[in-house]
Amino acid sequence: MEKTRATIQPVEGKLGVLLVGLGAISTTFIGGLEAMRRGTTKPFGSLTQMGTIRLGKRTDHRTPIVKDFVPLAKVEDLVIGAWDIFTDDGYTAAKKAGVLDPHHLEPLKDALATVKPMKAVFDRNWVKKLDGSHVKAGKTKKDLADQLIEDIRRFEDQNRVKRTVMVWCASTETFSTITAVHQNLAAFEKGLEANDSNIAPSQIYAYAALKCGIPFANGAPNLTVDVPALQELAQANRVPICGKDFKTGQTLMKTILAPGLRARLLGLSGWFSTNILGNRDGEVLDDPGSFKTKEESKLSVLDTILQPELNPDLYGNICHKVRINYYPPRGDNKEGWDNIDIFGWMGYPMQIKIDFLCRDSILAAPLVLDLTLFLDFAKRAGLKGIQEWLSFYFKSPMVAQGLYPEHNLFIQEMKLKNTLRYLMGEEQITHLGMEYYE
Ligand SMILES: NC(=O)c1ccc[n+]([C@@H]2O[C@H](COP(=O)([O-])OP(=O)(O)OC[C@H]3O[C@@H](n4cnc5c(N)ncnc54)[C@H](O)[C@@H]3O)[C@@H](O)[C@H]2O)c1
Repeated sequence: MEKTRATIQPVEGKLGVLLVGLGAISTTFIGGLEAMRRGTTKPFGSLTQMGTIRLGKRTDHRTPIVKDFVPLAKVEDLVIGAWDIFTDDGYTAAKKAGVLDPHHLEPLKDALATVKPMKAVFDRNWVKKLDGSHVKAGKTKKDLADQLIEDIRRFEDQNRVKRTVMVWCASTETFSTITAVHQNLAAFEKGLEANDSNIAPSQIYAYAALKCGIPFANGAPNLTVDVPALQELAQANRVPICGKDFKTGQTLMKTILAPGLRARLLGLSGWFSTNILGNRDGEVLDDPGSFKTKEESKLSVLDTILQPELNPDLYGNICHKVRINYYPPRGDNKEGWDNIDIFGWMGYPMQIKIDFLCRDSILAAPLVLDLTLFLDFAKRAGLKGIQEWLSFYFKSPMVAQGLYPEHNLFIQEMKLKNTLRYLMGEEQITHLGMEYYE
């Protein structure tokens, strides 16, 4: 393939980051960002800030940090805005979320407190376990979308922001599927006017973003932009989109381990995953509707990694169960157990146990940073619609119709880095390596 660098608009001025939801993940992200700016922490977990990318041959010794290779916005140039159904500012919300210890949180108080949420678009039918009063009123869903567009414009003007990205970090909405109103943009816009009950609040935010030409990432498992109508709008307005559901604790482990089992042709008879967590996310997921959305997202990964249809003897009969239990004493410090029943040579059974004592928002915050920077980069590089190369960050990656998603973390990583090489006019790395032995 001929090596040509894509035309990439320069990275100038500030970048707006509009977060839907000012809860545990958002405040942990904002707090960490401020700490990075002050030099009191390193950007642990962020591929853009700490990850390296090999360029050329192994003997070339060119492995820059991603942010030094790709023209990305600088951490100092990000300006944060948010919406929430509660009036709590970023500091109060962070304190309630309880992720950051006081010795980290208190010095960041001023910076976090400046983030005051705008009134949300919210409907209890979509998140049964929550109720808040900091909510917009509007006759139709179209009115609500227009109010969000006004919020976006005001935010951009007040902060003199040239480009903006929106990331859904709000609660998981109840399970829903694609209906007639989602089939195309005309039907969707009619549905906004007619208050169609199948249009979720998250879809109103996404619509507002795409109308303004703002890239949108979906950190939760809701359908949101994974519908033809909004993908049509993303194409028409040349806006990149990606989702769904940040790949953090247990599913991250699953997509690290399962490719290894498959690579060594170790069979799998069962995978039982259970979690306890006590944050607001856990409370929302205690509702069967929201849990179903999450369950679908968590269950989907094994099949596409193991491909039972290609290897029925190894993977044709797997019992895969996922449970999430709301257990308040744990707060954000989730515990995820996995019991994995595998078999090897002559069918002898073996077991693997994982006990991951993780911190959900600590794992998710760097993903918000990377996605913000990459989506802005994608827009400047002229990419539009679904950004499959960002699958690396998601439990249920969005893909073009007719494609199955790639869940294997290592293939996702290779795809991401090869996309960066491709856009920057560098050779793809195939790992063939014959030339070293010629
Ligand atoms: N933490 C993780 O590792 C992880 C991983 C994957 C996905 N997620 C998803 O990310 C989302 C955020 O997680 P969290 O731990 O920060 O949850 P959280 O409950 O602490 O924060 C969500 C916030 O969104 C607000 N909200 C709800 N509906 C809203 C709306 N329509 N408009 C504006 N604000 C709204 C809530 O009031 C709350 O403050 C959840 O959907 C969760 O399932 C989290």
